[in-house]
Amino acid sequence: MVGVSELQQLLGRRVADALATTGVDITADEALIRPSGRAGADYQCNAAMSLGKKLGRPPREVAQAIVDALDAPEVAASEVAGPGFINFTLDTAWLAGALDGLDERLGVPATAEPRRFALDYSSPNVAKEMHVGNMRSTIIGESLLRLLRYAGHEVIPHNHLGDWGTPFGMLIEHLTDLGGAGEHSIGDLDGFYQAARKKFDADPDFADRSRLRVVALQSGDEATLALWRDLVAESARHFGKVYGLLGTSLTDEDIYGESFYNPYLAETIAEVEALGITSVSDGAVCVFPPGFANRDGDPLPLILRKRDGGYGYPVTDLATVRYWVRERGVTDLLYVVGLPQSQHFQMVFSAAAMAGYLETGHSAVHIGFGTVLGADGKTIRTRSGGTIKLVALLEEAVQHAAKLVAERSRLDADAQAEVARAVGLGAVKYADLSGDREKDYTFTWERMLSTEGNTSVYLQYANARIHSILRKAGDTAPGPIRLQEPAERALGLKLAQFPSAVAAAVEGYAPHKVCQHLFETATAFTGFYENCPILAESTPAEVRASRLALAALTSAVLTRGLELLGIDAPTRM
Ligand code: ARG
Repeated sequence: MVGVSELQQLLGRRVADALATTGVDITADEALIRPSGRAGADYQCNAAMSLGKKLGRPPREVAQAIVDALDAPEVAASEVAGPGFINFTLDTAWLAGALDGLDERLGVPATAEPRRFALDYSSPNVAKEMHVGNMRSTIIGESLLRLLRYAGHEVIPHNHLGDWGTPFGMLIEHLTDLGGAGEHSIGDLDGFYQAARKKFDADPDFADRSRLRVVALQSGDEATLALWRDLVAESARHFGKVYGLLGTSLTDEDIYGESFYNPYLAETIAEVEALGITSVSDGAVCVFPPGFANRDGDPLPLILRKRDGGYGYPVTDLATVRYWVRERGVTDLLYVVGLPQSQHFQMVFSAAAMAGYLETGHSAVHIGFGTVLGADGKTIRTRSGGTIKLVALLEEAVQHAAKLVAERSRLDADAQAEVARAVGLGAVKYADLSGDREKDYTFTWERMLSTEGNTSVYLQYANARIHSILRKAGDTAPGPIRLQEPAERALGLKLAQFPSAVAAAVEGYAPHKVCQHLFETATAFTGFYENCPILAESTPAEVRASRLALAALTSAVLTRGLELLGIDAPTRM
């Protein structure tokens, strides 16, 4: 039996076969089969519009020809609609059988063409506490890691820490003034950074020492390096704590900070120079990737080596591409970084192509994202105008969630605390993931913790309710699925479309497509739950068994979907 995951492909093949009988050749993908949003239709075919144009025939006529020649036992009805769509209604018994055939992959196929991804995410700067700006990269990156792996790809995560460069002169000098890292740890990273900066601006002697430190660091002075390592380790401990709190997969092994690429910079530049694609501008060695200009129309340089001989952020990213492609054999490079760095990445990718590091068959994608806004519509800040520390924000989320849980839960205090963590952290993550990532969004506790609407709490409660039903059902075995009531069929169809949602999320690096689908699934479940009694006395045994199976499958989809978003799904709330 054909499973649900191949359904779109299968319908595409049916359409292609139908067209072939009329002498027109297209592939299954070109049939443009999509789940339909329309009432009464399950899937639609959008191919006739463009085909009509190509063949010089009215699209509705092409669509009708497809319908007339269609030979598809899994389709109960097909009809032409609007300017030339074809609406398909699946055969209900076929759909029920396909749902019965699902295993724990829930119909999501492992890709036939696995690729090797290097995924750059989180990537905070050392000696600063993680703030809201680092949050989105961490949350979106984690979801992409899980989605890509689930789809069968190999993913190597790497954390491109900002751990190198001129600020380290003043930081190390400040650390020395404090008596070295030694026993004590820096409790307040931000305070430490600000104190160093203040001294640097106010005290010329300190500023001079700091500059000498940079030179010592870059020339590999062992004592300086030891202090630098302490600073990085201190920061990595802080990052590790945040990752632990958030359930982020990144570990110390995944740290490939800017310093990691330092040994490769000179040889990268030499290589690029040898290709004859560099030029010297104002004493700096540059590449000018075509198509980038400043406001006056002058070409923009990607600076490889500064006039003073120093290296910077741009060349480090060029060496990063070279390293992952050459040394680690990755086919795809993903960078989950805010949209303001868009031009930087486009220039790096373009230079990497000129240098031959990126070839056909490779892809490099900047996974950009928008800003988190406060109620005033500006970048979210604390009341006093400072950056919001991520740890404080997450703790506040758990506190808000604890209030909500306390009002609704009958669990004991420890269990409630666990649930509050899942709800609070889930709310922050889901708010971050559920919109188009390139858009800004406004951060509001009320909305993200609403138990109605497209929130993680809503999904978590739906899932916990199902678990409670399954517990009450005791040992009634969930039985073959029948889709008799409209609400049963609507839910069944949503469950069958989970693989399409995952595929769309992977293809567009767009976790919000999973969110949207889970929301629709939970909504369909609510409709089903209200209309189709499961455990009532009056429900016949086979109907109860079928409804239990539908409920169990819904919970499996919600749990798996939330896991792909990095969100916990408690079984009791
Ligand atoms: N540390 C940088 C920042 O905070 C982000 C690094 C992103 N990754 C990269 N390969 N450039 O802005």
